Amino acid sequence: MLDLACGGGRHVRLFLARGHAVTAVDKDLSGLSDLRQATALEMLEIDLEDGRPFPLAGRHFAAVVVTNYLHRPLLPTLVEAVSPGGLLLYETFTAGNERFGRPSNPDFLLEPGELLRIARGRLRVLSYEDLEVTAPKPACIQRIAALREV
Ligand SMILES: C[S@@+](CC[C@H](N)C(=O)[O-])C[C@H]1O[C@@H](n2cnc3c(N)ncnc32)[C@H](O)[C@@H]1O
Repeated sequence: MLDLACGGGRHVRLFLARGHAVTAVDKDLSGLSDLRQATALEMLEIDLEDGRPFPLAGRHFAAVVVTNYLHRPLLPTLVEAVSPGGLLLYETFTAGNERFGRPSNPDFLLEPGELLRIARGRLRVLSYEDLEVTAPKPACIQRIAALREV
């Protein structure tokens, strides 16, 4: 499983606890320092937005998980990184979220239907939502679960 922009690693921990190999990527992996001995964990501390090629290009994962992060140029690469039979699980903020605070920069906000568009013709959409939530704080989000058919 790939957890891109994993932060403190809440999804890293969930997948490790269920016995999966995990690749954790973030520009700051200090929140995962307690996991440094975990043999099933590959840690990559890199800036995903510095213009250098994505170092995992060509690798494939049974799950690609991204939450609360958007660097638009990476979207096609992330879809490509889903193995046959694997899942893309993506949730982040959408346009409209600026009413509630940050992120408010359009570069960090999905456009209407954007997660559906990146999946179209490549992955089978199992679930998709575009909604306003009230918890853990008011926000506009999109989320998708999409499968690469074998
Ligand atoms: C809002 S946090 C989300 C963390 C985690 N995905 C979650 O939902 O709990 C955003 C994460 O993106 C990471 N991030 C932001 N810009 C980045 C960049 N240029 N390269 C790599 N990681 C970045 C931050 O370090 C932070 O951990």
